[in-house]
Amino acid sequence: MCGIVGIVGHQPVSERLVDALKRLEYRGYDSAGLATLCEGSLHSRRAKGKLVNLEKRLKEEPLSGIVGIAHTRWATHGAPTERNAHPHIAEGVAVVHNGIIENFAELKDELAAAGAEFQTDTDTEVVVHLLARYRREGMGRGEAMHAMLKRVRGAYALAVLFEDDPSTIMAARNGPPLAIGHGDGEMFLGSDAIALAPFTNAVTYLVDGDWAVIGKTGVDIFNFDGHPVERPRQTSLAGAYLADKGKYRHFMEKEIHEQPEVVARALGYHTSFEGNRADTTSCMDFAGIPSLAISACGTAYLAGLIAKYWFERYARLPVEIDVASEFRYREIPLPPQSAALFISQSGETADTLASLRYCKARGLKTGAVVNSRESSIAREADAVFPIFAGPEIGVASTKAFTCQLVALATLAIGAARARGTATQDEAKALVTSLAEMPGVMGRVLNSIKPDVELLSRELSKCHDVLYIGRGTSFPLAMEGALKLKEISYIHAEGYAAGELKHGPLALVDENMPVIVIAPHDRFFDKTVSNMQEAAARGGRIILITDEKGAAASKLDTMHTIVLPVVDEIIAPMIFALPIQLLAYHTAVLMGKDVDQPRNLAKSVTVE
Ligand code: F6R
Repeated sequence: MCGIVGIVGHQPVSERLVDALKRLEYRGYDSAGLATLCEGSLHSRRAKGKLVNLEKRLKEEPLSGIVGIAHTRWATHGAPTERNAHPHIAEGVAVVHNGIIENFAELKDELAAAGAEFQTDTDTEVVVHLLARYRREGMGRGEAMHAMLKRVRGAYALAVLFEDDPSTIMAARNGPPLAIGHGDGEMFLGSDAIALAPFTNAVTYLVDGDWAVIGKTGVDIFNFDGHPVERPRQTSLAGAYLADKGKYRHFMEKEIHEQPEVVARALGYHTSFEGNRADTTSCMDFAGIPSLAISACGTAYLAGLIAKYWFERYARLPVEIDVASEFRYREIPLPPQSAALFISQSGETADTLASLRYCKARGLKTGAVVNSRESSIAREADAVFPIFAGPEIGVASTKAFTCQLVALATLAIGAARARGTATQDEAKALVTSLAEMPGVMGRVLNSIKPDVELLSRELSKCHDVLYIGRGTSFPLAMEGALKLKEISYIHAEGYAAGELKHGPLALVDENMPVIVIAPHDRFFDKTVSNMQEAAARGGRIILITDEKGAAASKLDTMHTIVLPVVDEIIAPMIFALPIQLLAYHTAVLMGKDVDQPRNLAKSVTVE
């Protein structure tokens, strides 16, 4: 989604605004802009495309001023052009916005009928014209802000500059996050604390319905009814996470290779080894619940789908799972005694947050499996299960996926203990297998590169790729397809191997690689039969298996990637590695922008 920042400073702000935007670029990167107050009037620079274009623009035409707001955009309403880039300015008011104004069409008609001249196709511009109208009608700045907020419906994080007030920024939140940073004689505003990390680690989060007047030395916060409210000042840990690419070409490559380290960190938090015992440390009240609901989006949803297999198998706990955009509207009959888990790397995904609120309103106990403990989903859930992946900057999720799986596996084992479906020894064996994962991951990452690079050359020439698997390898097949399509733009589908003959087999010919994910588990023989069906129709088989599977499979594949034999519970995390690397190297060979694929954004704070 979009990222917004603001500074009420005592020294020039434009460079610092762009610097902060760089840390928010993962939220959207189709255009960017900033506005400052300079010698009593508003000035702005905007540019289509990535932030470097705005930087170029600023080099040619620098912008002075010690108060300013800025924006990096992921287009919702209106094409990603310079004209539609924020800030939008009219009659001495400048606005940047993350979110969607749902009733913009009716407001636009009303304002246009009253003479407002719209310059853009965005929903945001109605905010500017509403504020301008209220000021024209004689309202003060705060009064106009409050009146505007009463008129707009939807999701917003807003920052507003008024030309006739060189010492404050106004802000408002309903949905997307907004952090206010307290500096030394300066104040800051940002879509997340990482944006503000080099400036300050003292932050105050606005809650939904809040709006704020931010001056150089402090902030006044009001609720939706206009009453002053206090929000706590917190120390943000975001500074520890300021990220660079290190020795890697892309964040995605770095993040793939960080997995041994970050899963070890997650395991360190979620498991404990004491004396002869090995246990999980995180658990909800799983003992007496009739069922568990899980909701998430994209890769996080696929992690949830893998966890469904674990909760059902190890804890005998039925799981209702759906993508959050469906879950929230399906009117699922959820028993109030049950529990619900919400998985989200960012902790801000709008549909996942709405699903959480839906379950809370129905009395379910809620747990958040999140990367950011400062996020909205973490703050609203009853229990938080952090995944410790560290900042994930590449838009395609990699290390967050495996860390989500670590947290979910330990929760499933904890549930099995709580429900009496696993003995202490069985739980210990599972936890001990999990503990082997970082070491195995390290060895796999060191050994598979030549195979992956070779195969990527083949994949980069294809138009379509099919991934198949059974058991937990089925969601992993979908994750493989998602990774490949989102960064290489090659069409890919993930299927349950047993479904092949119910339709997709019709697609298989000598041009269609079929990537078969088949650890030598209890499904192996069946998956191999499905693989034979594809091979018999000319399909080019790429088999990802383990040493036992490679020995057992007699089929002539186009290529086989051989991984070490591992316990079933860690196979999804280990087999995720070649899948991520295949997508990565294919996209790099094709010259794609792997960290910032077209049309996508990292944190999806609108429906
Ligand atoms: C795919 C990817 C997305 C996210 C999805 C949910 O590689 O990254 O599918 O998994 O947008 O995001 P979070 O986990 O932040 O809720």
